[in-house]
Amino acid sequence: MPIDDGEADSASGVLEMNPSPQRLWREVAAVTRCATEAPFPSLTPGHLFFNVSLMPYAMHPLVCDLGQSARQRLSVLRFEDYLNKTERVELGIVNRAIEKMLEIPRITSVTRDDLLAIYTDEGFHTWMIERFRQHCQRTTGYVLARRPSLSVTRVQSLCDVAPAHYRNLAIIAAACVTETLITTTLRQAGAGDDIYPPVRALLAEHGADEMRHQAAFVRFSGEWLPSVSKDEGEYLDALLPELMTAFLAPEIPAWHDHLCSVGLDAMQADRVLGESIDPLEVGVQMMEAALVPRRLFARLGLSCSERFAQHARRWRPPR
Ligand SMILES: [Fe+2]
Ligand SMILES: [Fe+2]
Repeated sequence: MPIDDGEADSASGVLEMNPSPQRLWREVAAVTRCATEAPFPSLTPGHLFFNVSLMPYAMHPLVCDLGQSARQRLSVLRFEDYLNKTERVELGIVNRAIEKMLEIPRITSVTRDDLLAIYTDEGFHTWMIERFRQHCQRTTGYVLARRPSLSVTRVQSLCDVAPAHYRNLAIIAAACVTETLITTTLRQAGAGDDIYPPVRALLAEHGADEMRHQAAFVRFSGEWLPSVSKDEGEYLDALLPELMTAFLAPEIPAWHDHLCSVGLDAMQADRVLGESIDPLEVGVQMMEAALVPRRLFARLGLSCSERFAQHARRWRPPR
């Protein structure tokens, strides 16, 4: 297990080898494990796996006609997507970026020690999710399948098309965005009285760790973004709102598949989505989820917050 005791660090001589100040592990990161270790209670028909207020299509009359079991199944599918999104953010975006961030010599607000603690946390979170999938299947019978995540694919493709000399900047910017967005999205996903308690515990524990990561990434961004060259700054100012939109915009094709898998045909699924998704409401939710990075980027004098607000206001379902 990680050393989280400052005295142990001093005793082993680590502080002498590394003159930068070291925060306690639990102040920066801190892996937790209750959600994966506690026994799961039995599932009742009223339990949901995802905040239903983020699933307006689950309240549509055509879905209500299918009964409570269809609504529960839809919430399982949203939670499955959420786990896949989170897991791919941890490894494919954040830890990929931390490998690059470790090579930036001039940053002092986040130390090498802090970054390695976060790197370890993210690896642990993917293990926690994997354990959760196994426990969930044993207790509830629901299989939480591993699949690609549409929103993470959108973020990664923005990094992949970056010019070669800006590729590392894009990867680090993507992590700054996801790490300052994910705490709020975790909190929103687990809100609601009907959430199956192990789901609530998993999201709350992960959210507590992510709050510490968010603080570290806010410090890092506050030092890193003003330190880049003028050209790099302009590139990042243009890229950041695209990354935020890619991460937060609804995954309509996935929701369509979910509706078909609970028994609607493709035309009915189109109708449910068309009649239940209010673009203005989606825009408000995107703005709320992005509060922390919007404030951060505005404080740094970047124009990207305003352009993200335009994207959110103008969001419409894909045709
Ligand atoms: Fe995480
Ligand atoms: Fe994180």
